[in-house]
Amino acid sequence: MSSALNDLCPHPIVQAPMAGGASCPALTAAVSEAGGLGFLAAGYKTADGMYQEIKQVRGLTSGPFGVNLFMPQPEIADRAAIEVYRHQLAGEATWYQAALGDTDRGLDDGYDAKLAILLDDPVPVVGFTFGCPTREVVHALQRVGTRTVVTVTTVEEAQAAQAAAADAVCVQGVEAGGHQGTHRDNPETDAAGLGLLTLVTQVREAVGLPIVATGGIMRGAQIAAVLTAGADLAQLGTAFLVTPESGAPTLHKEAMTDPLFTRTELTRAFSGRPARGLVNRFLREHGPYAPAAYPQIHHMTSPLRKAAAKAGDPQGMALWAGQGHRLSRALPAGQLVEVLAAELDAARAASERGAA
Ligand SMILES: Cc1cc2nc3c(=O)[nH]c(=O)nc-3n(C[C@H](O)[C@H](O)[C@H](O)COP(=O)(O)O)c2cc1C
Repeated sequence: MSSALNDLCPHPIVQAPMAGGASCPALTAAVSEAGGLGFLAAGYKTADGMYQEIKQVRGLTSGPFGVNLFMPQPEIADRAAIEVYRHQLAGEATWYQAALGDTDRGLDDGYDAKLAILLDDPVPVVGFTFGCPTREVVHALQRVGTRTVVTVTTVEEAQAAQAAAADAVCVQGVEAGGHQGTHRDNPETDAAGLGLLTLVTQVREAVGLPIVATGGIMRGAQIAAVLTAGADLAQLGTAFLVTPESGAPTLHKEAMTDPLFTRTELTRAFSGRPARGLVNRFLREHGPYAPAAYPQIHHMTSPLRKAAAKAGDPQGMALWAGQGHRLSRALPAGQLVEVLAAELDAARAASERGAA
């Protein structure tokens, strides 16, 4: 299958956008320089903050890179449920000596302002998560030479991305670290998320778009597996989070292979939207009570998470991690791209030998 993205980078390896600091310009540029596709995360940033990072990447590499946007969220949150959760977290506020955050800080993450910048000064790729952009937005980006990718977690979402004329879909399995990019978070209708190989296979049969596969990928052999299943590229988050270039806090990086943290879970505890993180005290105690209220709960817990990080306490931080976290290798990002590419080649050669 010809792909809208493969011709941008020699290796079929995408560094996942990771909001919250991990996918900073140094990481994005290092991956693109090494022949992968680096991605900046615009989520939680101001439009100007995003633009500054774009300029920094351009100063570090002439290679292609992407910018990932959060789609604006509908107002669906139950205010009463948010207030109940505020009471639930009162003890945390006392413990960390931090006031809970203001939940009314907007639902759109500066989408229009960010889009205006990306149309005015285009980048090679723009990705979207938490929803599907309109056809008009996709066409406007395509007219300025930008390729578009929409994150999907079901076949129906992939069909919506195809209907919106997106250039590719980022198929996200339930193994993935961080937030599920589900278009509409609805606990009433939520099916349990699908594993990556099942989802890639389903999407491959349902839509004709190029596929970026993501979720739990830590080794070249897994990249070979998703490419065999019908993906065109593989996107890795957790694997790049631990690299020295990543802007993730040191405590977060160290937790990935700390024997204290043995498993991950999907939780609404920190943000009000399902996201996969290492199971720590905060997740265990509050996960079962957190309402579906994104981004209100994200804003509410933000001061707590910052205070926990400042206090050096990983038990109160959002330790986003994919299911493969224990396979993390703290290599420089460019070297990690090379190692993954070599592992992919070896896996392909082994399967060719097996087929001969
Ligand atoms: C710390 C962290 C932050 C993330 N932030 C974003 C984001 O801003 N936008 C996005 O589309 N995906 C985000 N993701 C999800 C990744 O794009 C990707 O789906 C995920 O990392 C893949 O699973 P893996 O971590 O097992 O490789 C984030 C993931 C992590 C671990």
